[in-house]
Amino acid sequence: MPPVENHPPLLDLLWACQDAKGFLADEDIAAIAKRLEMPFIDVEGVCTFYHFFHRKPAGKYIIYLNSSILSECNGFEELRKAFQEATGAPWNGVDRKGVFGLYDTSCIGLSDQEPAALINFHPFTRLTPEKVFRIIKALQSGVPVPELADRVENQVRYIPPGDKAVLFREHTPGRSLEQLKSLRPEEVVEEVRTSGLRGMGGAFFPVGEKWKLCRSHEAPTRYVVCNADEGEPGTFKDRAILSLVPGLLIEGMIIAGYAVGARQGILYLRAEYRYLLPLLEATIEQYRKMGWLGKHIPALEPFDYDIRIQIGAGAYVCGEETALLESLMGRRGEPWTKVVFPVERGYLGFPTVVNNVESLSAAARVLEIGASPYRSLGTTQSPGTRLLSVAGDCERPGIYEIEWGMTVRELLDLAGARDTGYIQFSGPSGIGVAPTEKDRRICFEDLPCGGSVMIFDQKRDLLRILSNFTTFFKHESCGVCTPCRAGNFILSRKLEKISRGLGRSADLEEIRQWGNLMRVTSRCGLGKASAQSIIRAMDQYPDYFQKLVLEKGREKGFLMEEALEAYRDAAGEH
Ligand SMILES: Cc1cc2nc3c(=O)[nH]c(=O)nc-3n(C[C@H](O)[C@H](O)[C@H](O)COP(=O)(O)O)c2cc1C
Ligand code: SF4
Repeated sequence: MPPVENHPPLLDLLWACQDAKGFLADEDIAAIAKRLEMPFIDVEGVCTFYHFFHRKPAGKYIIYLNSSILSECNGFEELRKAFQEATGAPWNGVDRKGVFGLYDTSCIGLSDQEPAALINFHPFTRLTPEKVFRIIKALQSGVPVPELADRVENQVRYIPPGDKAVLFREHTPGRSLEQLKSLRPEEVVEEVRTSGLRGMGGAFFPVGEKWKLCRSHEAPTRYVVCNADEGEPGTFKDRAILSLVPGLLIEGMIIAGYAVGARQGILYLRAEYRYLLPLLEATIEQYRKMGWLGKHIPALEPFDYDIRIQIGAGAYVCGEETALLESLMGRRGEPWTKVVFPVERGYLGFPTVVNNVESLSAAARVLEIGASPYRSLGTTQSPGTRLLSVAGDCERPGIYEIEWGMTVRELLDLAGARDTGYIQFSGPSGIGVAPTEKDRRICFEDLPCGGSVMIFDQKRDLLRILSNFTTFFKHESCGVCTPCRAGNFILSRKLEKISRGLGRSADLEEIRQWGNLMRVTSRCGLGKASAQSIIRAMDQYPDYFQKLVLEKGREKGFLMEEALEAYRDAAGEH
């Protein structure tokens, strides 16, 4: 008999204490350590890794205000003050009576409804100072948080015309699974390979190839893990799938489990989406009742397969697949050096497929509509469609299901973006695109997109955008390797120095050197990508950066010889 998953419950136990008490005291850590027969220090090490576990009382109402750049552009500072005034709590602290805790947090997946906050993990969107005072007053008078929380909107603004929608076409529960009755697992893998479907979590690795590799490793069992961590700032497309078509995702996880020979699927859900838990649990239960999950799935004998949900605890790096597996195993979410890959040795040492929410949902559609029709959509190297989370300075923020190959110009027109000055594709880890590049095509061959498109109009300050990204990486670096830990700190200080008017041309050069070092020597994608946007922006807008070190310097009376020299060069005065 293959081993049954005996999942280490450490994160769940920490959550239970955190929820009950609002923090994790020494005695809680000691009790958990005793129960799991672990050293105290190991439990504490896990606890302190995650943002949402607190070692000191954190308030009866824990408020997390999103500090991403889109929140910053929409009044973060004003709201921070309003929350402080209304609650009496200091920033990143608790009020004297221990009622309100007030913290900033990285993107909470509500960029289309900013500014937004979570209160006890319930969503509050489109905040204004007046709304903040109303909410706090209601909480003070005893109104329960869920009664005050907002309903999260999932606005699908565009789907391809005709019969081309993939994710957001009509969903009939179980339809894709019917195909499994006439297909052997290896035929399912072949169908997905033929479709050319690529992973949608950012690395674009072909889904069918990953499943085939996983199958190729002999093992008593294998695992399927759905990556619903969606932490890249500006991204909320997985939230839309989880909210609007959760059954489609569950079908994708069942198909993946059947294809690779797994007995257990695990949905790793970011804590920021805890409000989706009841819906997702009900959906899993629905598929159990339909006979597609559980012991002895009648239609697919002898296939046993079930799905459970693991809630994360606030760590962007846990979206990286090996950090995610560490977290699933109840450890600190520190990425692995890539000596082995999860398809060979993953969760609990068994071959594991980790796929993004959208990848698994699209795989279900591939079975439903067929590999060839899917392949006929999009471009040669990126067939099918892709979901984009579009937000920022545009009239119609929301979810866009586009056929791969759409131009940036077409997308901006659809979204109602005007006077665009800068577009950030794929979040802070991605790349910035200038308005002069509007004819580029969103596809693997030209401009691959991880799912987020942040639009900034010409009034926005590029330096402020990049500074926000760098602060984000500085906080989210797991710190395990020096180039990323030190590099993000240094980049952040350099940008701060420049924005204070103290920058010199040499700082720009050092940013470049550090960025290159981080790209080459960091262990995981976080460190490798975190300087990418700054360096690209410096290449795209050299005059802007030169002027920045000059003009900011002039404002402060710190005009350096060297900067003046560079200015003369740029102005052709030599
Ligand atoms: C720092 C970092 C964060 C990541 N965050 C996510 C995430 O939130 N969701 C996701 O699906 N993939 C994320 N990834 C990519 C995963 O490591 C992995 O490639 C992906 O889950 C595989 O699924 P796919 O092949 O279906 O795309 C992240 C990678 C890095 C380096
Ligand atoms: S690159 Fe950064 S996030 Fe990744 S392992 Fe190194 S320190 Fe951690």
